[in-house]
Amino acid sequence: MRQGLRSLGLLITLAAVATTWQSSADNPPETSAANSTNKSTDESATASAQPIYEQRRPSRDGIGKIYMGREISHVMGHRGADWLERSNREREERTDLLIERLPVEDGDVVADIGAGTGYFSFPIAQRIPNGRVLAVDIQPEMLELIEEKKRSTAIGNVQTVRGTITDPNLPRAAVDLIFIVDAYHEFSHPREMGEALVRALVPGGKLVLIEYRAEDPGVPIKPLHKMSESQAIREMAQLGLQWLQTADYLPQQHVLIFEKL
Ligand SMILES: C[S@@+](CC[C@H](N)C(=O)[O-])C[C@H]1O[C@@H](n2cnc3c(N)ncnc32)[C@H](O)[C@@H]1O
Repeated sequence: MRQGLRSLGLLITLAAVATTWQSSADNPPETSAANSTNKSTDESATASAQPIYEQRRPSRDGIGKIYMGREISHVMGHRGADWLERSNREREERTDLLIERLPVEDGDVVADIGAGTGYFSFPIAQRIPNGRVLAVDIQPEMLELIEEKKRSTAIGNVQTVRGTITDPNLPRAAVDLIFIVDAYHEFSHPREMGEALVRALVPGGKLVLIEYRAEDPGVPIKPLHKMSESQAIREMAQLGLQWLQTADYLPQQHVLIFEKL
C-alpha cells in the first residue's frame, strides 16, 4: 500500500515537471531565477496610494506579478540562446527588415535592452560605425556570449552592460535610441526599468518596442510572451513617453515607436 502511494506520488511529481518544462518549438525555454522579485522595491511602491504591482497565483508561464492588468512572464534563460540564434529566425521574423528600417543615424548611441545573444546588437552596430551599441542584459551568461561574438567579429562598437532587474545601468540623457525586442514583457519591474530608460534617453530620443502581436491568434507564441498594441501604449504613456506610430511590417511582431518629449 505504502509502495503504491509512493509510486503515485512519483508519477504526480513527474507529470508536474513535464508540464512546467513543456515548450513548443516556437517558444523560448524559460527560467524563473533571473526574475526573482525585488521585495523592497515592491514594498516601497505599495506604500504609495496606489500599488504599482499586484500579486496573484502564478499562471504556467508567468510570475504571478500583475502590472497594469498584465501578468509578467518568466525570463528566458540563457539556455535558450540557440533559439534566439536559430537559422530560420530571419525568414520567420524578417529581422533583416527590422534592422534596415530602424530609425538610427551614424554616430548614434543605441541601447539594446535585453540583448540576449546580441542577435540584433551587431547588425545595428554595423549600421552606425561611428556610433555604439550598449548591449544590456541581466544574465552574465548572455553578456559572455556577446563578448565571444565581439572577439570573433571585427565589430568593435558593441559594449556589454550588466543591468539589474530594476536598472539598466545606462548613463543619464546619453542614449539616442532604446531598442527592446521580445524582452519588455519579461521585465519583473517594468515601472522602475521604464523610468530608468526614460532617464537614459536624450530629449527627443526614441524607444522602439518590439513584441509579438497579442491580437493575432495565428502568432504561435505563448500568451504572456505577446503584447497588444493598446497595452504597450498604455504602459509607455505611464512613463511619459509619447506614442509616434505602430509600424506593422513584420510578420509576427508590433514595432511601436515612442519619443521622449
Ligand atoms: C527572449 S530574450 C530576447 C533577446 C534579444 N532581444 C533577441 O530578441 O534576440 C529576453 C532577454 O531579456 C533579458 N531580460 C529580462 N529582464 C531584463 C531586465 N530587467 N533588464 C535587462 N534584460 C532583461 C533576458 O535575460 C533575456 O536575455
